[in-house]
Amino acid sequence: MTSEQLAHLSLNEQASLTSGGTAWSTAPVRDVVRALNVSDGPHGLRRTIEDGSLFAPSAPATCYPPAVTMGSSWDPDLVRRIGAAVAREACALKVDVVLGPGVNIKRSPLCGRNFEYFSEDPHVSGVMGAAVVDGIQSLGVGACLKHFAVNNQETDRMRVSADVDERTLRELYLPAFEHIVREAKPYAVMSSYNRVNGVPASEHPWLLTQVLREEWGFDGLVMSDWGAVDDRVASLAAGLDLQMPPNGTDDQITAAVEEGRLDREAVATAAARLLQLQERVDRAPHFDGWDVDAHHELAREAARAGAVLLKNDGALLPIDPASRLKVAVIGEFARTPRYQGQGSSRVVPTRLDTAWEALRKAAGPELQLTFAPGFSLDDTTDPALAEEAVTCAADADVVLLFLGLPDASETEGQDRTHIRLPSAQVELVHLVAAACPQVAVVLANGSTVSVSEWQDHAQAVLETWLGGQAGGSAVADLVFGACNPSGKLTESIPLRLQDVPSYLHFPGQDGHTVHGEGRYVGYRHYDTLDVPVAYPFGHGLSYTTFAYRDLAVEETGVNEWTVSVTVTNTGTRHGEEVVQLYVAFDEPHPTRPRHELRGFTKLALAPGSSRQARFRLTGRDLAWYSAQRGGWRIDPGTFTVEVGSSSRDIRLHTVLYTRGDGHTEALTEQSSLGEWLDHPVGGKLLRERLDAHPGAVRLDDVDPMALAAAVQIPLVKFDGPTLGLDPDAIRALVAAVGGEAGAGAA
Ligand code: BGC
Repeated sequence: MTSEQLAHLSLNEQASLTSGGTAWSTAPVRDVVRALNVSDGPHGLRRTIEDGSLFAPSAPATCYPPAVTMGSSWDPDLVRRIGAAVAREACALKVDVVLGPGVNIKRSPLCGRNFEYFSEDPHVSGVMGAAVVDGIQSLGVGACLKHFAVNNQETDRMRVSADVDERTLRELYLPAFEHIVREAKPYAVMSSYNRVNGVPASEHPWLLTQVLREEWGFDGLVMSDWGAVDDRVASLAAGLDLQMPPNGTDDQITAAVEEGRLDREAVATAAARLLQLQERVDRAPHFDGWDVDAHHELAREAARAGAVLLKNDGALLPIDPASRLKVAVIGEFARTPRYQGQGSSRVVPTRLDTAWEALRKAAGPELQLTFAPGFSLDDTTDPALAEEAVTCAADADVVLLFLGLPDASETEGQDRTHIRLPSAQVELVHLVAAACPQVAVVLANGSTVSVSEWQDHAQAVLETWLGGQAGGSAVADLVFGACNPSGKLTESIPLRLQDVPSYLHFPGQDGHTVHGEGRYVGYRHYDTLDVPVAYPFGHGLSYTTFAYRDLAVEETGVNEWTVSVTVTNTGTRHGEEVVQLYVAFDEPHPTRPRHELRGFTKLALAPGSSRQARFRLTGRDLAWYSAQRGGWRIDPGTFTVEVGSSSRDIRLHTVLYTRGDGHTEALTEQSSLGEWLDHPVGGKLLRERLDAHPGAVRLDDVDPMALAAAVQIPLVKFDGPTLGLDPDAIRALVAAVGGEAGAGAA
């Protein structure tokens, strides 16, 4: 079908398909190809009302909590349902492709778009991103995975080169994309603005063709981020199928083909991928609308599931709504919610809940609620507002203090320069705590904020991230205990910005951001070096407690294990626990992070009940990427399987052994004496040669200390009397092991 249609298109027409028709649709061609509509997402649609204009207003759609909050739920099923709900709205608003999810790694808390990304960890990002794609595509609407790749900052985002070594790319920045492409098969991928090691991502043959298509088997369409393409010919040649929005003329493409600078096939292939996308999304149904109430409820469920209870001294939360307590609700965010970020993902919500209204609705008749704004959103200190808040706090039994980042401080196109809350808010914590000793802070922010300056003055801290349009109701559900917090951190909260591993490199200068910290990002850094943090990766409290027991491992194949553990709810409330599985390598000098997350599951548990969590571990979970070999590598030896409630709250562990991948490095004359001696064949041959040859040194006779000092010397350097080898002998040894290289003990 597609190739038949393609044959009906001239070179000009095919070229026109490789560029958008408007800012939000692809180009139509006669009656063969229709314009496909794309719209930002993925936590809600930004379907522009007037087609074509970049800054056109958009139609109302459900504003679900963004990725930061969805990620903190650690609940792929919930996220899949949100993806499906977004797709339903897409079908009603005639959107063919949703521009999301974004799965870039949170390299620094300063990145202005962290609220749109899931985690500092590729496993969490990959699993959650795959769930979004599954959900969206379950109705036949396309998902567009973005921003491929290494787009971890907004500063200079359209020009900066992310300079990063291949092992770090393979182990940290690419695995989420790889997992989603392999498992969820998104219809589209969006190339990022930045350069990767000097080459624009939109013109990167290694990324767009070799890795994405040839290695991972991606068979969909690659589109550019908006305005990312500088050179259409180079982009097409590299594997980019569609530039968005339209820019330049199609003559650039036809002329390049006619002059032999661009393969005619590259144009036909890109056009064919657009036809294929049309064929795929044409299967989506049309709906006249959606159940606005039900989608609002889903947004509320997600906001509840993604909130993280950081601290709860003396079980200050939940507050019993049927009690006679006097509760002071302080903070402008309680009535003017901060519920989403700025930039292309901004949604016009179908409605908006405020915490103040929701608390009033849910409070029993005897609970007294008072309100004071405490601060203004423009970040200026207003003594009158602070004074009013202190009076309100002094008269209360408990203060619910709503703090957070102002709207403008987290946005696409800009990074933050610090992680502090506005100073007026920090001062307010101190003042309010002096007036009332029972303070629960409710935070609203899209990326981590420092808690060090103020958290000692609060008994409880509930991090709600950005709650979407129903976030206000979710807060009331959580603080009154109608539901139990179950979110966990997908990013570490550092004590100080200076502790962040990329601190000295971010956001770079002179057009380069050098990834000097390599793969040691987030807990990979803090846990390897034992750096104290305010709250570790994976942390999150509950109103109940959980006990872990019976860690068991079964070997199910070569480098394959099933791990199981039983978790019991030991408290008195229903709750959910995110059980995390890490793989750890204990090395005298680290060559890899101390441990890495390889699995998680969220268990719902009634009080007193137990359930088993099960995980599958494979060789890839133990592997590291060898740039020298150009592939994954599993070394033989022991490793530890850890199961716990956060990266720093490991409850059970067990030591396992892997035989490795059976690969032995090929020996050459540049291999060291030690490498020769350790090699199963080379070691034997070398010893035999030395033992048999008169005048050569018998290794058994060498002083072990002297031998230890020599093991790092390449064999070729022993051409001479030290060992009694000559060039012919060395060549003969290399030739003798040649046939054996790569055949180790499997
Ligand atoms: C953003 C993308 C977005 C696109 C279209 C770009 O500025 O980086 O994430 O999908 O605009 O709005």
